[in-house]
This record gives sequence, C-alpha cells and structure tokens, in this order.
Amino acid sequence: MQRTNYCGLITDAYLNQQVTVKGWVHRRRDLGGLIFFDLRDREGLLQVVAEPESSCFSDANELKHEYVVEVTGTVRSRPNPNKDLKTGNIEVLASKITILNTAIPTPILVDDESVSEMNRMAHRIIDLRGQKMRNNIMLRTKLSHEIRCFLNDEGFLDIETPFLTRSTPEGARDFLVPSRVHKGEFYALPQSPQLFKQLLMVAGFDKYYQIVRCFRDEDLRADRQPEFTQVDIETSFLSELEIREMAERLIRQAFKKVLDVELPEFPVMTYADAMYYYGSDKPDLRLENFKFIDLTDIFSKIDNDKLKESLYINGQLTGRVVALKIPAEIKISNKEFKEYEEFAKIYGAKNLLSLKFLDITKSGEEAIKTPLKFIYDDKVITDVISKCNAKNDESLIICIDVKAKVVNEAMGALRLKIGHEKGLAQGEWKPLWVIDFPMFEYDDEADRYVACHHPFTSPKDEHIDKLTTNPAECLAKAYDIVLNGWELGGGSIRIYRSDIQSKVFDALKISKEEAQNKFGFLLDNLQYGAPPHGGIAFGLDRIASMMCKAESIRDVIAFPKTTKGQCLLTNAPNEVDDKQLTDLGIARLPQN
Ligand code: AMO
Repeated sequence: MQRTNYCGLITDAYLNQQVTVKGWVHRRRDLGGLIFFDLRDREGLLQVVAEPESSCFSDANELKHEYVVEVTGTVRSRPNPNKDLKTGNIEVLASKITILNTAIPTPILVDDESVSEMNRMAHRIIDLRGQKMRNNIMLRTKLSHEIRCFLNDEGFLDIETPFLTRSTPEGARDFLVPSRVHKGEFYALPQSPQLFKQLLMVAGFDKYYQIVRCFRDEDLRADRQPEFTQVDIETSFLSELEIREMAERLIRQAFKKVLDVELPEFPVMTYADAMYYYGSDKPDLRLENFKFIDLTDIFSKIDNDKLKESLYINGQLTGRVVALKIPAEIKISNKEFKEYEEFAKIYGAKNLLSLKFLDITKSGEEAIKTPLKFIYDDKVITDVISKCNAKNDESLIICIDVKAKVVNEAMGALRLKIGHEKGLAQGEWKPLWVIDFPMFEYDDEADRYVACHHPFTSPKDEHIDKLTTNPAECLAKAYDIVLNGWELGGGSIRIYRSDIQSKVFDALKISKEEAQNKFGFLLDNLQYGAPPHGGIAFGLDRIASMMCKAESIRDVIAFPKTTKGQCLLTNAPNEVDDKQLTDLGIARLPQN
C-alpha cells in the first residue's frame, strides 16, 4: 500500500483519517492488554496502538526492536499528549500491521546517549537512525541545497574538477594514489581545487563553484577530517570587497533559510588586531569583553635582569606580556589556577602568574597582591592599574614569555577555556572577517618563509616592494570568515601577473625549475590572458556543525574517520594483498 506520509509528519491534520505509514519499530510497550509501539522514520516518531480485539493484535505481538513494518490505521487524539514529539498529540489505532522485515538485536540501541563515540562510529548505520544524527544529516542536506540555490541564482557555474591530479599547494601532506599504468608515478588527491579553479577563470568561466571533497593528510582535530567538503568559489573581475560582500550574503542567507537566524554585523578585523587582542586569527567574539591586555610596554621597561631575560634575545624585544582580567565576581581557586598553569604548559608557556587588585587607591602591598615582586614599584603599579582600568577585587592572570607566539597561543587558548567555563560569553552568533593576513611566515625548521595562505595569493598593492625588501611585513589580499571562534572559510585575491608571481616564488625560495615542475600547468596558462581573479572556500562540515551545535564535524558527516584517520565501519585503511601491490609496482619494505 502507498504510504500516506512520513511517520514524523502525521500530525493533527490527519485526525480521524485512515493513514498508512512505514518505518522501524523504535520502542514497544505492553500496557494493560494494549500494545503500544513507536514507529520511526527519517522524519520522526509516531505512536501506534494495537487493541486486543483487533485482527492485527497478533502481528503487533510479534514486533521487536528495529523490525521494518507497514501500519494502516486511524489517527486519533491522544489522551495524554507528549509535548516533546511533533506527533505527540495523536496516535494511530492500527487495523493492519505487515512485517516487511525482521531484525536481529542491534549492537547499540538507537538514541542511547550512553554509547561511546567509538561504538557509534563502529555501528554507524544504527547510530544514523538516531534523532541527533538524522537531524544533523538532514540539516546538512538543507544547507548544501540553500548554498546551491544562492550560487545558482547569482549566476555561478557548477564545474567539477579532478580528484586524481597533481599535488596542490594548501600546505598539508598529500594523499597519494599509485598509478598502475605508469609504475612508480603517483596522483595526488586534491587538498582543494585551487589551481583548477584559477585555470577556469583563465578559461573565461568567470563565476565558478563546486561543493567538493578535499583531502589533506594532517593531524586531525574536532574541526578537521582527512576528507572534508568545501564550498569552493572563484570569480573574475571582482575586488576583495566585492567577494567578501558576496560571501557574507551567502552565509547570511544560509543561516536565515536553514535556521531562521538573522546573523548580526560582520565586523572586519585585521590579522594584527586579532593577534594583539585575542592571540588568534579566529577570535571568538562571544568573549569580546574578555580580551588580552598587553602589558609588554610596561614590563619591558622594568629594570630587572630575570624579567629582561624573559623578554629579550640579544637585546631585541622578542617576548610579550599579556594579562586576562578576571571580573571581581568570578573566583578562581588555587586548584583552578594550577590547572590553568598546566594547560598553559601545553603551549610551552611556563610563566603564568596571578595578580589581585586589593585597593587601587593605596600603594605597594596594600594596592595589589602578586608573587611578581618587581611590580612593587609605585609607577609600575599605577601604570598596570591604569592600563587594566582595574577595580578593587578584580584579578589578572599574566603570561610572560620570550616568544610572543607562545604567549599568544597559551593565552588565546586560556582565554577560551576560562571565558567559556566561567560563563563570560555573550550572544549566540558572532561572525567576523579577519583581513590583511601576512603573505609569509617564517618556518624555523625549513629556515625559509612559507606562504600563510598559498603561493598564488596576491600581496596588497602597496606592499609589492616589500616582497623583496621586507617579506616579513608584506601583507596579503587574504581574508577569513570566522564564526564563534571557528574558521568557516578563507580566500584571497590571486596573483595574475607573472612578474609578481616570480617575486613571490623568490621570497619563498622556490626556484624557477621547482615552480615550473610543481605548478607549470598553472603558470604557463596564466600567461594566455589571465583575468584578475579571486575567491574563497568554506568548510561545509564546519558550517553544518556550527548550525547543529555539534562539538565535532564528525557529527555532521555520515561516515567520518576517527582522529586516527580510520573508518570504523569499513575498517579502512586496510592491508592489501601482494598481487595488488605488484600490479602497482610497489614493493613492501622488509620487516625487521
Ligand atoms: P583553506 O585551506 O583555508 O583554503 O580551506 C578553506 C576552508 O576549508 C575548511 N577546512 C577543513 N575542514 C575540515 N577539515 C579539514 N581538514 C579542513 N581544512 C580546511 C575550513 C577552511 O576555512 N583553496 C583555498 C581557498 C581559496 O583560497 O579560495 C583553501 O583551501 O573551513
């Protein structure tokens, strides 16, 4: 018989009507001679009742968890409505029950919140039947649908690019695929379609998008998977501002259509400010009022040998002093402070110190309490009070390190930890743009500059000279979109002139031969009349997890990998037999 509607969509509108529904037996209860069971499908649950006098009662008696059944019956109101269910006002009085398939007992129960994530991943199919995963996956579908609608309406062309390709320049390790035909040669799975989308601009397609899988062999975290999905976009002839404006409208529209949320203003922050105030290029602005107070200026002038050692290398100020101000009403116990010290050590910060403002009208030990003896100087105390705009009973957590990077990372992470644990976050959605990224960062291990975004990112026009004179200070036309402390997307205006591209390769110490070898197909084609172009890519998994308020992107991916890159459902990666290796011309390393 044809289904009337999904179980989860049978509402009061069907009262007193005969309906047919199909789904899985979720829970079954036998009460006072009646059999109740919840029938489940992707839209939700529906209560079914079988009465002893009904001809279908014996079939109802056969039902077990996860049997697949078809039920025909009449919709009636429920004496005790269940407000937690969409269908909670009604139930179906069954007249016919057909068992379409039986099921053996499942290794985990659907919707059992006590099941560990590893077990959920191993039994993903049963896990996907649960309400949380069902809702997440369905929200994700809606999200990608809305994104496609927006981009199609704006005249973007959906063009596919290859998975079996050459190495791409996003900076992670590649996944390699051996070629059987060309023994000893390998394809690389794309870390992103970056070079192809640039080439599509040279080809004249003007506005491209793709919702596409990308592959990166990197350390995995809650917001990182080895294969993930990008909403990848490239445009010709648009300025940075125009691309950002379009990208912002896309995110706004997605939030409006999927969640009915009107996102607030997207403030624009430079990378330099983000690092100065938040120690991070993806600041969580829900903690806007809990930002860094920079005490480097005050501390670096104090005449104290030990302190100087903690801030200077060979007479050069390389370090940083940052404080987080804890409001008077928030108490931090000694035990918590010790925990913060240990936490900061993860980021290499050894000097975490406390300071309490006792009575700011007084001086010396009556004004403040801290183990930092060198602060007990009238001028320093006044300067610290004024810089912190301190009030009595407020306190500081201070970090000092000779590497500014260590302070930024440790205090950036501590800011999030304390801020969220102590309830300092405000507002639900806090998006922003971070712009003016540096072109390069110094890689101590490689002893050379590497591209912060990728080597095809354009420097700011007024910084072109710095490519040769001062690469460290050269800023890029690169931008990231950040929401609640997560980087949702990033992009840039690309270099389209070969003279500038050569200068960038010089700064990166990439020789002409190496550039030609790695990216020759791009560089050659850029010479055939490349339009000015730029784009952005969003992490679809990240946007979906934000929307679902999931803690990890694993919860919005039907078949994710563990943090060790394994698929517990299929047990990939797995060993392959010698014949397959021989076909590919690959020999096993001798075991020892
Ligand atoms: P980028 O490397 O910043 O830029 O990536 C764009 C967005 O992709 C998401 N993302 C990830 N999501 C899950 N797991 C991962 N391992 C992962 N890595 C990245 C993030 C990120 O913001 N080609 C450029 C874009 C461009 O310049 O147009 C690029 O890939 O949300």
